[in-house]
Amino acid sequence: MDFKRNILITGGAGFIGSHVVRLFVTKHPDYRIVNLDKLTYAGNLENLRDIENMPNYVFVKADITDIETMRKVMADYNIDGVIHLAAESHVDRSILNPFEFANTNVMGTLSLLQAAREYWEKSAQGYEGKLFYHISTDEVYGALKPGKELFTETTPYSPHSPYSASKASSDHFVRAYHDTYGMPTIVTNCSNNYGPYQFPEKLIPLFINNIRHHKPLPVYGKGENVRDWLFVEDHARAIELIFHKGKVADTYNIGGFNEWRNIDLIKVLIATVDRLLGNPDGHSLELITFVTDRQGHDLRYAIDSTKLKNELGWEPSLQFEEGIEKTVKWYLDNQTWLDNITSGDYQKYYEDMYSNR
Ligand code: NAD
Ligand code: TYD
Repeated sequence: MDFKRNILITGGAGFIGSHVVRLFVTKHPDYRIVNLDKLTYAGNLENLRDIENMPNYVFVKADITDIETMRKVMADYNIDGVIHLAAESHVDRSILNPFEFANTNVMGTLSLLQAAREYWEKSAQGYEGKLFYHISTDEVYGALKPGKELFTETTPYSPHSPYSASKASSDHFVRAYHDTYGMPTIVTNCSNNYGPYQFPEKLIPLFINNIRHHKPLPVYGKGENVRDWLFVEDHARAIELIFHKGKVADTYNIGGFNEWRNIDLIKVLIATVDRLLGNPDGHSLELITFVTDRQGHDLRYAIDSTKLKNELGWEPSLQFEEGIEKTVKWYLDNQTWLDNITSGDYQKYYEDMYSNR
Protein backbone atom coordinates (compact mmCIF):
# COMPACT_ATOMS: atom_id res chain seq x y z
CA MET A 1 0.00 0.00 0.00
CA ASP A 2 1.22 3.48 -0.84
CA PHE A 3 1.06 5.88 2.06
CA LYS A 4 0.51 9.61 1.77
CA ARG A 5 3.17 10.24 4.39
CA ASN A 6 5.78 8.17 6.20
CA ILE A 7 6.32 9.48 9.69
CA LEU A 8 8.94 8.37 12.17
CA ILE A 9 7.90 8.80 15.80
CA THR A 10 10.72 8.13 18.27
CA GLY A 11 10.01 7.14 21.87
CA GLY A 12 6.54 5.94 20.88
CA ALA A 13 6.54 3.19 23.51
CA GLY A 14 6.91 5.74 26.30
CA PHE A 15 4.28 7.80 28.05
CA ILE A 16 3.65 10.77 25.74
CA GLY A 17 4.91 8.98 22.64
CA SER A 18 2.30 6.24 22.98
CA HIS A 19 -0.49 8.83 22.98
CA VAL A 20 1.03 10.55 19.95
CA VAL A 21 1.40 7.25 18.06
CA ARG A 22 -2.19 6.24 18.88
CA LEU A 23 -3.53 9.60 17.71
CA PHE A 24 -1.62 9.55 14.41
CA VAL A 25 -2.33 5.89 13.65
CA THR A 26 -6.07 6.26 14.22
CA LYS A 27 -6.57 9.75 12.82
CA HIS A 28 -4.41 9.26 9.72
CA PRO A 29 -4.97 5.79 8.24
CA ASP A 30 -3.29 7.09 5.07
CA TYR A 31 -0.01 7.77 6.91
CA ARG A 32 2.48 5.04 7.77
CA ILE A 33 3.58 5.54 11.38
CA VAL A 34 6.96 4.05 12.26
CA ASN A 35 7.41 3.89 16.02
CA LEU A 36 11.13 3.64 16.83
CA ASP A 37 11.98 2.89 20.43
CA LYS A 38 14.87 1.28 22.29
CA LEU A 39 12.49 -0.06 24.95
CA THR A 40 14.47 1.16 27.92
CA TYR A 41 12.95 0.63 31.35
CA ALA A 42 10.47 3.39 30.37
CA GLY A 43 9.41 1.88 27.05
CA ASN A 44 6.44 -0.46 27.22
CA LEU A 45 4.65 -1.92 24.21
CA GLU A 46 1.66 -2.68 26.45
CA ASN A 47 0.93 1.03 26.01
CA LEU A 48 0.07 0.36 22.36
CA ARG A 49 -1.67 -3.03 22.50
CA ASP A 50 -4.91 -1.55 21.13
CA ILE A 51 -3.34 -0.28 17.89
CA GLU A 52 -0.40 -2.62 17.27
CA ASN A 53 -2.21 -4.58 14.55
CA MET A 54 -3.29 -1.55 12.55
CA PRO A 55 -2.06 -1.80 8.93
CA ASN A 56 -0.41 1.64 9.04
CA TYR A 57 1.64 0.92 12.20
CA VAL A 58 5.21 -0.41 12.29
CA PHE A 59 7.42 -0.92 15.34
CA VAL A 60 11.22 -0.79 15.11
CA LYS A 61 13.34 -1.56 18.15
CA ALA A 62 16.42 0.63 17.86
CA ASP A 63 18.62 3.10 19.70
CA ILE A 64 18.63 6.69 18.41
CA THR A 65 22.35 6.99 19.19
CA ASP A 66 23.04 4.31 16.55
CA ILE A 67 23.41 6.57 13.51
CA GLU A 68 23.84 3.73 10.99
CA THR A 69 20.49 2.29 12.00
CA MET A 70 18.91 5.77 11.91
CA ARG A 71 20.20 6.18 8.31
CA LYS A 72 18.78 2.79 7.39
CA VAL A 73 15.37 3.48 8.96
CA MET A 74 15.10 6.84 7.15
CA ALA A 75 15.74 5.09 3.83
CA ASP A 76 13.88 1.82 4.46
CA TYR A 77 10.67 3.64 5.28
CA ASN A 78 11.19 6.68 3.05
CA ILE A 79 10.62 8.94 6.05
CA ASP A 80 9.38 12.47 5.32
CA GLY A 81 8.53 13.60 8.83
CA VAL A 82 10.13 12.96 12.22
CA ILE A 83 8.44 13.55 15.56
CA HIS A 84 11.18 13.08 18.10
CA LEU A 85 10.19 12.15 21.64
CA ALA A 86 12.76 9.49 22.58
CA ALA A 87 14.69 10.65 25.61
CA GLU A 88 15.72 9.90 29.14
CA SER A 89 13.03 11.88 30.93
CA HIS A 90 13.27 11.63 34.72
CA VAL A 91 15.05 14.42 36.60
CA ASP A 92 15.97 12.24 39.60
CA ARG A 93 17.68 9.70 37.33
CA SER A 94 19.56 12.51 35.59
CA ILE A 95 20.99 13.58 38.94
CA LEU A 96 22.27 10.03 39.48
CA ASN A 97 23.49 9.41 35.93
CA PRO A 98 24.02 12.58 33.87
CA PHE A 99 26.12 10.82 31.21
CA GLU A 100 23.23 8.64 30.11
CA PHE A 101 21.15 11.78 29.63
CA ALA A 102 23.84 13.50 27.55
CA ASN A 103 24.25 10.37 25.48
CA THR A 104 20.60 9.72 24.68
CA ASN A 105 19.21 13.24 24.68
CA VAL A 106 22.10 15.08 23.04
CA MET A 107 24.01 12.51 20.99
CA GLY A 108 20.84 10.59 20.14
CA THR A 109 19.11 13.74 18.87
CA LEU A 110 22.20 14.69 16.91
CA SER A 111 22.40 11.26 15.28
CA LEU A 112 18.76 11.44 14.28
CA LEU A 113 19.14 14.98 12.92
CA GLN A 114 22.17 14.00 10.89
CA ALA A 115 20.50 10.87 9.47
CA ALA A 116 17.43 12.91 8.48
CA ARG A 117 19.56 15.64 6.96
CA GLU A 118 21.58 13.21 4.83
CA TYR A 119 18.49 11.39 3.61
CA TRP A 120 16.46 14.49 2.82
CA GLU A 121 19.30 16.44 1.21
CA LYS A 122 19.84 13.72 -1.35
CA SER A 123 16.15 13.19 -2.12
CA ALA A 124 14.74 14.64 -5.36
CA GLN A 125 12.62 17.27 -3.58
CA GLY A 126 15.30 18.08 -0.99
CA TYR A 127 13.73 19.48 2.16
CA GLU A 128 10.40 20.27 0.52
CA GLY A 129 7.51 18.66 2.39
CA LYS A 130 9.81 17.41 5.16
CA LEU A 131 9.74 18.25 8.87
CA PHE A 132 11.87 17.41 11.90
CA TYR A 133 9.68 18.13 14.93
CA HIS A 134 11.47 18.00 18.28
CA ILE A 135 9.51 17.61 21.53
CA SER A 136 11.00 19.44 24.46
CA THR A 137 10.17 20.66 27.92
CA ASP A 138 9.56 23.94 29.73
CA GLU A 139 12.34 22.90 32.15
CA VAL A 140 14.93 24.33 29.71
CA TYR A 141 13.81 27.82 30.78
CA GLY A 142 14.98 27.25 34.36
CA ALA A 143 12.94 28.15 37.43
CA LEU A 144 10.50 30.97 38.14
CA LYS A 145 10.05 32.81 41.41
CA PRO A 146 6.63 32.60 43.06
CA GLY A 147 4.27 35.05 41.40
CA LYS A 148 2.66 35.63 38.06
CA GLU A 149 5.60 35.51 35.63
CA LEU A 150 5.29 32.79 32.95
CA PHE A 151 7.74 31.19 30.51
CA THR A 152 7.19 32.47 26.98
CA GLU A 153 8.85 31.44 23.72
CA THR A 154 11.39 34.25 24.20
CA THR A 155 12.40 33.40 27.76
CA PRO A 156 16.17 32.76 27.71
CA TYR A 157 17.29 29.19 28.32
CA SER A 158 18.64 28.60 31.82
CA PRO A 159 18.50 24.87 32.57
CA HIS A 160 19.50 23.64 36.03
CA SER A 161 19.19 19.86 36.17
CA PRO A 162 21.24 17.46 34.04
CA TYR A 163 17.92 16.47 32.40
CA SER A 164 16.99 20.02 31.43
CA ALA A 165 20.59 20.79 30.40
CA SER A 166 20.53 17.80 28.04
CA LYS A 167 17.14 18.81 26.60
CA ALA A 168 18.31 22.41 26.16
CA SER A 169 21.37 21.20 24.30
CA SER A 170 19.27 19.02 22.01
CA ASP A 171 16.91 21.96 21.32
CA HIS A 172 19.92 24.06 20.32
CA PHE A 173 21.16 21.34 17.94
CA VAL A 174 17.75 21.15 16.29
CA ARG A 175 17.70 24.91 15.73
CA ALA A 176 21.31 24.81 14.55
CA TYR A 177 20.34 22.26 11.88
CA HIS A 178 17.75 24.70 10.63
CA ASP A 179 20.01 27.75 10.78
CA THR A 180 23.05 26.00 9.28
CA TYR A 181 21.67 23.48 6.79
CA GLY A 182 18.17 24.85 6.22
CA MET A 183 16.50 21.74 7.62
CA PRO A 184 12.78 22.37 8.31
CA THR A 185 12.46 22.05 12.09
CA ILE A 186 9.99 22.92 14.82
CA VAL A 187 10.60 22.78 18.59
CA THR A 188 7.85 22.78 21.21
CA ASN A 189 8.32 23.15 24.95
CA CYS A 190 5.61 21.64 27.10
CA SER A 191 4.79 21.70 30.81
CA ASN A 192 4.42 18.62 33.06
CA ASN A 193 2.15 15.99 31.52
CA TYR A 194 -0.09 13.58 33.40
CA GLY A 195 -2.50 10.82 32.38
CA PRO A 196 -2.63 7.10 31.51
CA TYR A 197 0.55 5.08 30.77
CA GLN A 198 3.00 7.32 32.68
CA PHE A 199 5.85 5.37 34.22
CA PRO A 200 5.26 5.15 37.99
CA GLU A 201 8.46 6.94 38.96
CA LYS A 202 6.84 10.31 38.18
CA LEU A 203 4.86 12.09 40.89
CA ILE A 204 1.25 11.37 39.89
CA PRO A 205 1.34 7.64 39.00
CA LEU A 206 3.86 6.93 41.80
CA PHE A 207 1.60 8.50 44.39
CA ILE A 208 -1.59 6.86 43.05
CA ASN A 209 0.17 3.49 43.26
CA ASN A 210 1.50 4.17 46.74
CA ILE A 211 -1.90 5.30 48.03
CA ARG A 212 -3.39 2.11 46.62
CA HIS A 213 -0.84 0.04 48.59
CA HIS A 214 -1.04 2.36 51.62
CA LYS A 215 2.68 3.14 51.28
CA PRO A 216 4.38 6.44 52.26
CA LEU A 217 4.21 9.37 49.82
CA PRO A 218 7.71 10.93 49.68
CA VAL A 219 7.16 14.69 49.30
CA TYR A 220 10.41 16.46 48.46
CA GLY A 221 11.25 19.40 50.73
CA LYS A 222 8.12 21.12 51.99
CA GLY A 223 5.99 20.32 48.95
CA GLU A 224 6.01 23.98 47.96
CA ASN A 225 7.40 23.57 44.45
CA VAL A 226 4.96 24.49 41.72
CA ARG A 227 4.36 22.62 38.47
CA ASP A 228 1.99 23.42 35.58
CA TRP A 229 0.05 20.27 34.63
CA LEU A 230 -1.38 19.29 31.24
CA PHE A 231 -3.41 16.19 30.38
CA VAL A 232 -1.30 14.08 28.03
CA GLU A 233 -3.98 13.72 25.34
CA ASP A 234 -4.12 17.50 25.07
CA HIS A 235 -0.36 17.52 24.49
CA ALA A 236 -0.74 14.84 21.82
CA ARG A 237 -3.46 16.92 20.11
CA ALA A 238 -1.20 19.96 20.15
CA ILE A 239 1.62 17.93 18.59
CA GLU A 240 -0.65 16.65 15.82
CA LEU A 241 -1.85 20.18 15.11
CA ILE A 242 1.63 21.73 15.13
CA PHE A 243 3.04 18.94 12.96
CA HIS A 244 0.53 19.89 10.26
CA LYS A 245 0.03 23.63 10.79
CA GLY A 246 3.05 24.89 12.71
CA LYS A 247 5.43 27.39 11.15
CA VAL A 248 8.80 25.94 10.17
CA ALA A 249 11.73 27.15 12.30
CA ASP A 250 9.31 28.31 14.97
CA THR A 251 8.84 27.42 18.62
CA TYR A 252 5.58 26.97 20.52
CA ASN A 253 5.02 26.67 24.24
CA ILE A 254 2.36 24.15 25.27
CA GLY A 255 0.68 24.35 28.66
CA GLY A 256 -2.68 24.45 30.38
CA PHE A 257 -2.40 27.53 32.62
CA ASN A 258 -2.79 25.05 35.46
CA GLU A 259 -0.30 25.64 38.27
CA TRP A 260 -0.33 23.54 41.42
CA ARG A 261 1.85 23.48 44.53
CA ASN A 262 2.93 19.87 44.92
CA ILE A 263 1.36 19.53 48.36
CA ASP A 264 -2.01 20.84 47.17
CA LEU A 265 -1.96 18.53 44.18
CA ILE A 266 -1.08 15.58 46.42
CA LYS A 267 -4.09 16.34 48.64
CA VAL A 268 -6.38 16.34 45.59
CA LEU A 269 -4.87 13.01 44.55
CA ILE A 270 -5.39 11.51 48.00
CA ALA A 271 -9.01 12.69 48.15
CA THR A 272 -9.71 11.30 44.67
CA VAL A 273 -8.07 7.90 45.24
CA ASP A 274 -9.70 7.51 48.66
CA ARG A 275 -13.14 8.37 47.26
CA LEU A 276 -12.79 5.99 44.32
CA LEU A 277 -11.52 3.18 46.57
CA GLY A 278 -14.36 3.78 49.03
CA ASN A 279 -12.01 4.80 51.87
CA PRO A 280 -13.19 7.26 54.51
CA ASP A 281 -12.44 10.91 53.75
CA GLY A 282 -8.84 11.79 54.72
CA HIS A 283 -7.89 8.12 55.18
CA SER A 284 -4.57 8.35 53.28
CA LEU A 285 -3.43 11.79 54.45
CA GLU A 286 -1.23 10.09 57.06
CA LEU A 287 0.91 8.71 54.19
CA ILE A 288 2.35 12.15 53.41
CA THR A 289 6.03 11.97 54.35
CA PHE A 290 8.30 14.98 53.92
CA VAL A 291 11.73 13.80 52.74
CA THR A 292 15.05 15.44 51.83
CA ASP A 293 14.60 17.81 48.92
CA ARG A 294 15.76 16.97 45.39
CA GLN A 295 19.17 18.55 44.66
CA GLY A 296 18.76 21.77 42.69
CA HIS A 297 14.96 21.39 42.83
CA ASP A 298 13.44 24.06 40.53
CA LEU A 299 10.91 26.08 42.51
CA ARG A 300 8.30 26.89 39.91
CA TYR A 301 7.46 26.15 36.28
CA ALA A 302 4.56 27.92 34.58
CA ILE A 303 4.01 28.26 30.87
CA ASP A 304 2.31 30.83 28.68
CA SER A 305 0.75 29.08 25.69
CA THR A 306 -1.04 32.16 24.31
CA LYS A 307 0.92 32.04 21.06
CA LEU A 308 -0.31 28.52 20.30
CA LYS A 309 -3.89 29.55 21.06
CA ASN A 310 -3.73 32.73 18.97
CA GLU A 311 -1.89 31.30 15.99
CA LEU A 312 -3.26 27.75 15.76
CA GLY A 313 -6.37 27.84 17.95
CA TRP A 314 -5.20 25.11 20.39
CA GLU A 315 -6.60 25.01 23.91
CA PRO A 316 -6.61 22.27 26.54
CA SER A 317 -9.87 20.32 26.41
CA LEU A 318 -9.97 19.12 30.01
CA GLN A 319 -10.32 20.91 33.31
CA PHE A 320 -7.73 19.63 35.80
CA GLU A 321 -10.37 18.08 38.10
CA GLU A 322 -11.75 16.05 35.16
CA GLY A 323 -8.24 15.08 34.07
CA ILE A 324 -7.25 13.89 37.52
CA GLU A 325 -10.49 11.92 37.94
CA LYS A 326 -9.93 10.24 34.56
CA THR A 327 -6.29 9.53 35.40
CA VAL A 328 -6.90 8.06 38.85
CA LYS A 329 -9.72 5.90 37.44
CA TRP A 330 -7.42 4.67 34.67
CA TYR A 331 -4.68 3.58 37.10
CA LEU A 332 -7.20 1.91 39.40
CA ASP A 333 -8.81 0.12 36.43
CA ASN A 334 -5.44 -0.91 35.01
CA GLN A 335 -3.75 -2.29 38.07
CA THR A 336 -2.18 -5.13 36.08
CA TRP A 337 -0.36 -2.57 33.92
CA LEU A 338 1.06 -0.97 37.07
CA ASP A 339 1.79 -4.28 38.76
CA ASN A 340 3.61 -5.66 35.70
CA ILE A 341 5.85 -2.62 35.61
CA THR A 342 6.55 -2.53 39.29
CA SER A 343 7.34 -6.25 39.27
CA GLY A 344 9.61 -5.93 36.23
CA ASP A 345 7.81 -8.75 34.38
CA TYR A 346 7.24 -6.64 31.29
CA GLN A 347 10.97 -6.29 30.61
CA LYS A 348 11.36 -10.04 30.30
CA TYR A 349 8.29 -10.19 28.06
CA TYR A 350 9.89 -7.80 25.61
CA GLU A 351 13.25 -9.51 25.68
CA ASP A 352 11.55 -12.76 24.73
CA MET A 353 9.32 -11.13 22.15
CA TYR A 354 11.94 -9.10 20.32
CA SER A 355 15.16 -11.06 20.76
CA ASN A 356 14.84 -12.54 17.26
CA ARG A 357 13.97 -9.38 15.31
P1 NAD B 1 9.24 8.40 28.79
O1 NAD B 1 10.45 8.26 29.66
O2 NAD B 1 7.94 7.90 29.29
O3 NAD B 1 9.51 7.72 27.38
C1 NAD B 1 10.70 7.85 26.70
C2 NAD B 1 10.74 6.79 25.60
O4 NAD B 1 11.97 6.95 24.87
C3 NAD B 1 10.73 5.36 26.13
O5 NAD B 1 9.80 4.58 25.40
C4 NAD B 1 12.15 4.87 25.92
O6 NAD B 1 12.24 3.48 25.68
C5 NAD B 1 12.56 5.68 24.69
N1 NAD B 1 14.02 5.84 24.60
C6 NAD B 1 14.87 6.25 25.57
N2 NAD B 1 16.13 6.24 25.13
C7 NAD B 1 16.08 5.84 23.83
C8 NAD B 1 17.05 5.65 22.82
N3 NAD B 1 18.37 5.85 23.07
N4 NAD B 1 16.65 5.26 21.59
C9 NAD B 1 15.34 5.03 21.32
N5 NAD B 1 14.38 5.18 22.25
C10 NAD B 1 14.74 5.58 23.49
O7 NAD B 1 9.17 9.96 28.45
P2 NAD B 1 7.91 10.90 28.26
O8 NAD B 1 7.52 11.44 29.58
O9 NAD B 1 6.91 10.23 27.41
O10 NAD B 1 8.60 12.09 27.45
C11 NAD B 1 8.69 12.03 26.02
C12 NAD B 1 9.37 13.29 25.52
O11 NAD B 1 8.63 14.44 25.92
C13 NAD B 1 10.79 13.49 26.05
O12 NAD B 1 11.58 14.01 25.03
C14 NAD B 1 10.60 14.50 27.18
O13 NAD B 1 11.77 15.27 27.36
C15 NAD B 1 9.46 15.35 26.63
N6 NAD B 1 8.60 15.98 27.63
C16 NAD B 1 8.07 15.27 28.67
C17 NAD B 1 7.22 15.91 29.57
C18 NAD B 1 6.57 15.14 30.70
O14 NAD B 1 5.91 15.74 31.55
N7 NAD B 1 6.68 13.82 30.76
C19 NAD B 1 6.94 17.27 29.44
C20 NAD B 1 7.51 17.98 28.36
C21 NAD B 1 8.34 17.31 27.46
P1 TYD C 1 8.24 14.75 38.50
O1 TYD C 1 6.97 14.00 38.24
O2 TYD C 1 9.50 13.96 38.72
O3 TYD C 1 8.41 15.82 37.32
P2 TYD C 1 9.49 17.02 37.15
O4 TYD C 1 10.58 16.83 38.13
O5 TYD C 1 9.96 16.84 35.73
O6 TYD C 1 8.70 18.28 37.37
O7 TYD C 1 8.03 15.66 39.78
C1 TYD C 1 6.99 16.62 39.87
C2 TYD C 1 7.17 17.38 41.16
O8 TYD C 1 6.97 16.50 42.27
C3 TYD C 1 8.58 17.94 41.33
O9 TYD C 1 8.51 19.20 41.97
C4 TYD C 1 9.26 16.93 42.24
C5 TYD C 1 8.12 16.42 43.10
N1 TYD C 1 8.24 15.01 43.56
C6 TYD C 1 8.10 14.71 44.91
O10 TYD C 1 7.88 15.59 45.77
N2 TYD C 1 8.20 13.40 45.28
C7 TYD C 1 8.45 12.40 44.38
O11 TYD C 1 8.55 11.21 44.78
C8 TYD C 1 8.58 12.73 43.01
C9 TYD C 1 8.85 11.67 41.97
C10 TYD C 1 8.45 14.06 42.64
